Amino acid sequence: MTIDKTFINSFAKTTERGAYGASTFKGKNNKIAADQAAVDEMRNELNKINMKGKIVIGEGEMDEAPMLYIDEEVGTKQGEEFDIAVDPLEGTNFTAKNLPNALSVLAAAKKGNLLKAPDIYMEKIAVGPNLPKNIIDLDFGVRKNIELLSDAKNLEPSKLTACVLKRTRHEEIIKTLNEMGVKINYISDGDVSGVISVADKKSEIDIYLGIGGGPEGVLAAAALSCLGCQMQTRLVFQNDEEKDRAVKLGITNLNEKYNIEDMIKGDVIFCATGVTDGDLVKGIKNVNDSFIAETLVLHKSSKTNKILKNQIKK
Ligand code: FBP
Repeated sequence: MTIDKTFINSFAKTTERGAYGASTFKGKNNKIAADQAAVDEMRNELNKINMKGKIVIGEGEMDEAPMLYIDEEVGTKQGEEFDIAVDPLEGTNFTAKNLPNALSVLAAAKKGNLLKAPDIYMEKIAVGPNLPKNIIDLDFGVRKNIELLSDAKNLEPSKLTACVLKRTRHEEIIKTLNEMGVKINYISDGDVSGVISVADKKSEIDIYLGIGGGPEGVLAAAALSCLGCQMQTRLVFQNDEEKDRAVKLGITNLNEKYNIEDMIKGDVIFCATGVTDGDLVKGIKNVNDSFIAETLVLHKSSKTNKILKNQIKK
């Protein structure tokens, strides 16, 4: 069952408004206020959509997140049933410091079709389109994955570029990449856009590697599932409380490796609107009493892959 194309614009409006909300706090050194403004705007817009929507990835559990919490019902509560993953502001630091690549992001699929990932860390590996199926695997380790990719692309490892989130937990990954002569493109935050960069010919990124947020992993998987790329993930637990949270969300095998089709089943819509200018889209631009928003919109079944540019009343 596919999602009707008419929902593309409705969902795009939610990230446009989310991005606008966050943009009012650009460079104001207040991550929390920027995030809250994005949440308020996005939620308001989600509730206008004719659907029975449920947040499956959001701002947290009901007791810690007053809005867009996991299991919150959104929409007019009539019509089709959707599971919705949101990151109203991906890149809170980028927004607070007015740095590039802050986005407002959403993915929507039919009820039951998105992995309910808890807000904990997740190992991620991703490569672009047109490669042999199952070419990468988290269990192979960095060296073997790079060797396999280098063979498939017929390029020496020294001609490959990896995108890695700059964190001390990635020292081993970085050491191996350095030993193999792979070029590293570091990002300081924002691994949704980092992972998606494997699909972007302009980016020159061949592989994404490392540990980031679980919710961000599912959102990036939604985008890659529309773009014919490959990605594998696995949750990383730091304590028993995190394990309990995963179990509560219905995860039975805590060591499971998820391929894209395990995280995103069937059809999906993905929208990402720029808050600040970035690699995927430009940021919000104010024009008197309106604003211009750029949104990457993807819809798997209709093969929609475009940048929407809209001027919207504030
Ligand atoms: P926020 O926008 O919620 O601050 O997340 C930014 C981010 O860089 C994500 O893109 C990434 O998945 C995660 O944080 C990494 O977490 P950490 O900063 O703890 O390494």
